[in-house]
Formats: sequence, structure tokens, C-alpha cells
Amino acid sequence: RGTDGGAVMAAGLVLLTLGALLCALGGASAAGPKISTSPETEHGNEGDAIELICKCNGYPPVTKWTWFKMADQGPQPILNGTDGRLFISSNDSRTVLRIIPLNLEKDPGNYVCNATNQLGEGSAVVNLRVRSRLAALWPFLGIVAEVLVLVTVIFIYEKRRKPSEIPDDDDGGSAPLKGNTANNKDKNVRQRNAN
Ligand SMILES: *[C@@H]1O[C@H](CO)[C@@H](O)[C@H](O)[C@H]1NC(C)=O
Ligand SMILES: *[C@@H]1O[C@H](CO)[C@@H](O)[C@H](O)[C@H]1NC(C)=O
Ligand SMILES: *[C@@H]1O[C@H](CO)[C@@H](O)[C@H](O)[C@H]1NC(C)=O
Repeated sequence: RGTDGGAVMAAGLVLLTLGALLCALGGASAAGPKISTSPETEHGNEGDAIELICKCNGYPPVTKWTWFKMADQGPQPILNGTDGRLFISSNDSRTVLRIIPLNLEKDPGNYVCNATNQLGEGSAVVNLRVRSRLAALWPFLGIVAEVLVLVTVIFIYEKRRKPSEIPDDDDGGSAPLKGNTANNKDKNVRQRNAN
């Protein structure tokens, strides 16, 4: 049994050493700040303001935040005041990239926030989508167009109906009555049958 215990202990030691080794090897990336975004995809309307947010809920605190915009030529750094529309404000747990006003051509894409703390670096990506003002208006314009068409159709229909109705109205005084009495008889019959 003593040898069994020794074997278990040896196996444990090997595992511990392996674990420590793996930690040391992967440490560079694993120990850096874990960054989260909320949400991962942001939608904004052209001309409006939007805030892209990255957070780090861990220790040690983030000492430096940087933002990049992914482009074909590689990540483009964003500074506070870039283009007169992009503003950055950060503290040790949070960074906000505020874009105002949103530009339909320039702004859509992937934004990377990069955080540095004592132990390393971490980053997260926010995808920004921008809708055109017109796109936001389309459903409204559609309803307006629909109402206009309906009103026009009703108007034309009413205008066409009126002249032909005049002769109908002259002898129409008794016709509806006939119809009504017939209906009433019908109803009475149905009611009697039902009883
Ligand atoms: C960013 O720029 C704005 C306006 O230019 C300024 O008010 C603000 O204090 C700046 N923020 C930082 C963190 O430098
Ligand atoms: C960082 O800023 C956010 C919002 O501005 C605030 O809620 C949070 O308390 C701040 N954190 C620190 C450590 O100042
Ligand atoms: C963060 O930015 C630095 C340069 O400022 C870069 O070397 C590093 O690779 C970036 N890290 C991540 C995770 O993007």
C-alpha cells in the first residue's frame, strides 16, 4: 500500500509540474485583462451618436486603453478627437468610444479596444452597423404612401358613384324597405324554426 501511495504522489507531482509549465507557457496571453463589450454588435442611425463600450471586470486594473478601427491596410489607431467626431473617455475599468455624428460611409466596421495592465494585454471587438436616415424613414414613407393611395382610390370611387346614384335614390325609398321586411320575415322564419 505504501508503494501505491508513492505512485499516486508521484503522479500528482508530475501533473502539478505539467500544469505549472503550461501556465508559464500560456501565461503571456492568459494573464492579460479579460475584456468584454456590450453589446458585440451596435446599430446606429446615420447622423445620430453612438457609444462603443469595452469593460474589464478584473484585477489588476487597466492602465492603458487604445482603440483601433479594422481596415484593409490593418488596424488604424483612433485618438480622442479623430476626424472631429470620435471621442474616447476611459477609466481603469471601462472605455467608451463615442462617435457623433455617425457617418454612413466612414463608420461601419469592426472596432478593437485594446487594454493593457501589469500582466499583459487583452482586446475585444465591437461591430458597428450604420443605417442610412432614409432606411429609417422607409417604413414611415411606406405607410404614408399606402394611406395616400387608399384615400385617392376612395375619393375616385365616391366621385364616380355619385352621378349614377341619383336615379337610384329616387325610387330607392321603398326598395330598402322591401329588403328590410323581407329580411325581417326571413329572420322571423329562422327564429321560429329555431324555436
Ligand atoms: C477628448 O476631447 C474632448 C474634446 O476635444 C475633451 O473635452 C475631452 O476632455 C478629451 N478627453 C480626453 C480623455 O482627453
Ligand atoms: C468608470 O466609469 C464608469 C462610468 O463612467 C463608472 O461607472 C465606474 O465607476 C468608473 N470606474 C472607476 C474605477 O472609476
Ligand atoms: C494591443 O496594442 C499593442 C500596441 O499598442 C499591440 O502590440 C498588441 O498586439 C495589441 N494587443 C492586442 C491583443 O490586440
